[in-house]
Amino acid sequence: MAAQLILVLFGAMIAYQVASLIVLGRGDVIHPVSRRHVIAQAVDMWRLAGAQLQAVPGAAQASQVLAALDRPGTHVRVAAASDIEPHQALPGEEANLHASLLARTGLAADAVRVRFEPAEGDDQEARLAISMRLADGHWMNSAQQPMTKFPWWRSNRFSLPMTTLLVLALGFAFVHGTLRAIRKLARVAERVGRGEQVAPLPLSGPRETRELTASFDAMRQRLARHIEDQAQLIGTITHDLRTLIATLRLRAELVDDADLRTAMQRTLVDMEQMVEQSLRMASDEAHAEATTETDLAGLLRDIAAEQGALGQDVRLHATAPASVPYRCRPLGLRRALTNLVENAVRYGSRARIGIEHARAEAGGGAVLRIVIDDDGPGIAPAQLDNVFKPFFRLDRAVGGTGLGLTIARSCVEAHGGSLQLHNRGGSGLRAVALLPAS
Ligand SMILES: Nc1ncnc2c1ncn2[C@@H]1O[C@H](COP(=O)(O)OP(=O)(O)OP(=O)(O)O)[C@@H](O)[C@H]1O
Ligand SMILES: [Mg+2]
Repeated sequence: MAAQLILVLFGAMIAYQVASLIVLGRGDVIHPVSRRHVIAQAVDMWRLAGAQLQAVPGAAQASQVLAALDRPGTHVRVAAASDIEPHQALPGEEANLHASLLARTGLAADAVRVRFEPAEGDDQEARLAISMRLADGHWMNSAQQPMTKFPWWRSNRFSLPMTTLLVLALGFAFVHGTLRAIRKLARVAERVGRGEQVAPLPLSGPRETRELTASFDAMRQRLARHIEDQAQLIGTITHDLRTLIATLRLRAELVDDADLRTAMQRTLVDMEQMVEQSLRMASDEAHAEATTETDLAGLLRDIAAEQGALGQDVRLHATAPASVPYRCRPLGLRRALTNLVENAVRYGSRARIGIEHARAEAGGGAVLRIVIDDDGPGIAPAQLDNVFKPFFRLDRAVGGTGLGLTIARSCVEAHGGSLQLHNRGGSGLRAVALLPAS
């Protein structure tokens, strides 16, 4: 955008110069003040020559008298013939002078001849020759150096580069300053999109940028408040449910039928787990964790070691990088990845974990790709979306509360990433988490 604006400014400067060249800067036109002067001078010299010839006939004597008027660039003589060839259609400036001279002297059109030669170079003067017939048939031949309007390049030799440079420099500084504020806002918007906690932005730059920043901040605060309210609501409900479950448990103890009592107690344990998980999820969202630089490869190694200690077959691929520094909320991400690994060992007997830098599909940016494979039966394609729904379980007899994948996806998405499940052609399930590379 900066480059485009500079280009527009530059274009405007050039357009202005071209316009002034057309309107003002014509070196082939005599300056109005000088025009009046050369006409008056020519008419005076013509009158003087006429008077001199009347007093003392003879071109030579008249020329001698008129020579007294010579000045550098100005010259007048009387001769039997005109210095200028007769001419008919006169071009612009010459026609103007011709008409003015006729009006001032009352001479016939063919008794006045004008030749104007514009200055050729920077250092040359324009030249004007005027011939006017005298009463006795002699001609007054004069040469003058009128002042022309400045050729545009003469007056702009200094001002053109100076104004161009100044306008471009000031324009660049202004555009750069404005865009810097917008770029900063875009970076913060991206971080907010990833669920990071960010401090309110300082208001700087022009009014429009300040307004944009202020409304962005207001939106961010409203969003945070909304999430907090929701989480608080879930928290309150689940908290009350916990109390009710505890009461029910006590009452279940009083049931005489042993089978019914056991069944009721099992259901209550399930309910308790559900409530605990929901409470944890709600509190996670309400008290958003701070974003810190974390080694993701190390984090995955930790999870594998933990599961190994529990007797599970969980391993990180040997090809995984030794360390993968990443800015994230480590506790949330750890819980999400642990959920995926636990699923792999619970439903697919073992977990193989991979982590690599990759490119997102469809021309996206750089991503971190975390893959968790298992050896289980996979998930029927029709259920691949459903398993992300809260409390959804394929088999009610096994498994936990059905919140693991919901929490995992919500956490990965809060980091600006995505979580997907794929069947590996009958040889197990693959969970793929893509996180935007920071
Ligand atoms: N790797 C897998 N292979 C086969 N089925 C799976 C796998 N992972 C999840 N599932 C199915 O998806 C369901 C939902 O998984 P999710 O992790 O959300 O809940 P859960 O494991 O049942 O309980 P929680 O994780 O909350 O303790 C599981 O109950 C299971 O039926
Ligand atoms: Mg699970």
